[in-house]
Amino acid sequence: MNQPHKVIYDTDPGVDDAMALYFAMAHPDIELLGITTTFGNVTVAQAATNALYLTAIAGQSIPVTQGVAAPWCMPVQAPPAHIHGADGLGNLEGRVLTHNTLDPRSSAQFIVDMARAHPGEITLVAVGPLGNLSLALKLEPRLPQLVKQVILMGGTVLEPGNVSPVAEANIWNDPHAADLVFTAGWKLTMVGLDVTHRVILPVAMFKRIAQAQQHLATDTLHHAVGFYAHFYSGLYPHVAEIHGCFGHDVLAFIFLVNPELFTLENGRIRVVTDGLAQGQTIMKRKDFVPYPHPGWENDKPMSQVCMHVQAQACQEVLERTLSGPWLTTQERAA
Ligand code: BDR
Ligand code: CA
Repeated sequence: MNQPHKVIYDTDPGVDDAMALYFAMAHPDIELLGITTTFGNVTVAQAATNALYLTAIAGQSIPVTQGVAAPWCMPVQAPPAHIHGADGLGNLEGRVLTHNTLDPRSSAQFIVDMARAHPGEITLVAVGPLGNLSLALKLEPRLPQLVKQVILMGGTVLEPGNVSPVAEANIWNDPHAADLVFTAGWKLTMVGLDVTHRVILPVAMFKRIAQAQQHLATDTLHHAVGFYAHFYSGLYPHVAEIHGCFGHDVLAFIFLVNPELFTLENGRIRVVTDGLAQGQTIMKRKDFVPYPHPGWENDKPMSQVCMHVQAQACQEVLERTLSGPWLTTQERAA
């Protein structure tokens, strides 16, 4: 058997973040070394609380850190409670008592420490605003050489945005941090709306998973996805048809374990940091054109971007993984 992918998961849970977390915990080819939290779908304090809670109820203790609370150069936005719930997990009615505690390091420091301890081995899967990664780059300028790769959920090339006609939420939330991450020079794959808007997951699938794996963790996920799907089904008629939601963050992990399900395009990516197009991810798709406008020189690193996805196959991978025997204790809310 191949060695599992060593992963640090940078996240703002968040319903699709929770889905992705459980996919990573359930998948035998993924070894989660830590969960670094950031503001985004909720405050960073709530994100850390949720990461601790989700891991604890699933019977695991994985290091969780608290990271940046706000964007670099602009005021923090109010979290989107109408999408993820005020608590980030679809307004859970009651939480059981759990005992996992925070790692005292900042998220950025944790990333740096782990990258130094495992040079060339770590994949950073980042699915929130990118402040933790950009701060880690400042703490350790050799980080691009120390990590194996970065896979991020964020941005869009051709698909319209979800917070403006051109911007995706994670990038828009901290565009200065995102531009630094796209130009840092590591192996980077962008899993953006071009593919995440193609994968619509029915709530019925999460009900089947909760029935197959009768456990508080799968019940919690089913509840959260129900809330989240209400938002997406209210917005998009084609999503309402199957009463579902977009999988967004989980696609970053599916790319890690099943890259053959995605079609890639290479290009240099820059982020618009302010104005009407704030958060737009622009890809230079014709690399042979020597544009006179500054910022597109050939010393800017290339990224790979997921442009197409086999949606049905992704859904099957997700359901198969979450329905497997990854939860050891039989726990269920009374
Ligand atoms: C991204 O924004 C957040 O709401 C989701 O968790 C996902 O990371 C989608 O645009
Ligand atoms: Ca997220």
